[in-house]
Amino acid sequence: MNMKEYIDEAESALLHTYNRYQIVWEKGDGMYMYDIEGKKYLDFVAGIAVFALGYNNKAYNDALKAQIDKVLHTSNYYYNIPAIEAAKKLKKVSGMDRIFYTNSGAEAVEGALKAARKYAFLRDGHTDHEIIAMNHSFHGRTMGALAVTGNPHYREAFEPLIGNIRFADYNDFESVKAQVTDKTCAIILETVQGEGGIYPATEDFLKNIRALCDEKDILLILDEIQCGMGRTGTMYAWQRYGVKPDIMASAKAIGCGVPVGAFMMTEKVAQQSLTSGDHGTTYGGNPFACAAVSKVLDLFEELNVLDNVKESGDYLYEKLEELAAKHDCIKEHRGVGLMQGLECDKTVGDIINKAIANGLLLINAGANVIRFLPPLIVSKQEIDDMIAILDACF
Ligand SMILES: Cc1ncc(COP(=O)(O)O)c(C=O)c1O
Repeated sequence: MNMKEYIDEAESALLHTYNRYQIVWEKGDGMYMYDIEGKKYLDFVAGIAVFALGYNNKAYNDALKAQIDKVLHTSNYYYNIPAIEAAKKLKKVSGMDRIFYTNSGAEAVEGALKAARKYAFLRDGHTDHEIIAMNHSFHGRTMGALAVTGNPHYREAFEPLIGNIRFADYNDFESVKAQVTDKTCAIILETVQGEGGIYPATEDFLKNIRALCDEKDILLILDEIQCGMGRTGTMYAWQRYGVKPDIMASAKAIGCGVPVGAFMMTEKVAQQSLTSGDHGTTYGGNPFACAAVSKVLDLFEELNVLDNVKESGDYLYEKLEELAAKHDCIKEHRGVGLMQGLECDKTVGDIINKAIANGLLLINAGANVIRFLPPLIVSKQEIDDMIAILDACF
């Protein structure tokens, strides 16, 4: 079948929940994707912050193949070695104490919300606790994650979602404080807002929220699904700020392509929240998914991924600053590490389509922001190549 035939077939069989770009993929290699007609694309999307190691990493592929030959799945009613090894490594890089593996980011958020509610329930026996979430946030499409997603357009048709959610403004501590009541059990936010337009939390904002949470025994939940796993230059973005969440959600690059996520918590929360029978999943944390997590964490170390993010992230920042200075239609440049965005004075769909036609994959974050989320192995040369294509598109 040719590209058009595949697309027609897809559009007649798949639920139309995405306006997809008209590309059918054949394979990926390093920083590049190839469509079924052999066209090569420089990838600054990475499957939306998933493929941290780039495509077709041999050591990663070999680890997965080896695990396939042993066992793909066992029930969570037994122990499996990849889950144990991955947990040990995750604890080391995150500083968190307890891990629950999930199949996706949204599911990690769901677990985090359940843990927070249970913590508050065990404390006072009430069932009317509130959670504070941020405007313009994105936490996923399941009912709980959607309930804390600060975009009414995503939520409206699916109401009622889980109740007792109050929204505040990101990076505006007073607006968060104004939403606190004696029922507040948790505050949830992305350490860097992704879908909302690439807004990093300010240090003051995060530190003030941490202090507020400590004062009132409110749990701080940080969603690191997009900004975590090295993307901002530290393994988790909050590690730059000297604050630590009580619960955090991780996914996307944690499996580098294998669908897996996790929510993690401190021992204090673990001892006073979810216990046996409270939460579960059939696939979450199976040997295949955890072999991926374990190998990803090894390769982050072996390939000095964090060092590359710092170096390439600074370089990307410099180059995007130059681009922003050159083109009046670019209103603002934001971001950190390899999570950056250019806000334009109009919708960016046309620019992104032009870039794709010229062999460069980019994605938007909201209507007016071009988002840059390359694999974390990106080199300066590839950044130069990207800038040259984008410059011409502008
Ligand atoms: C910050 C954030 N949280 C949660 C999610 C949901 O993750 P998933 O699509 O794996 O359910 C996403 C996905 O883009 C995200 O960016």
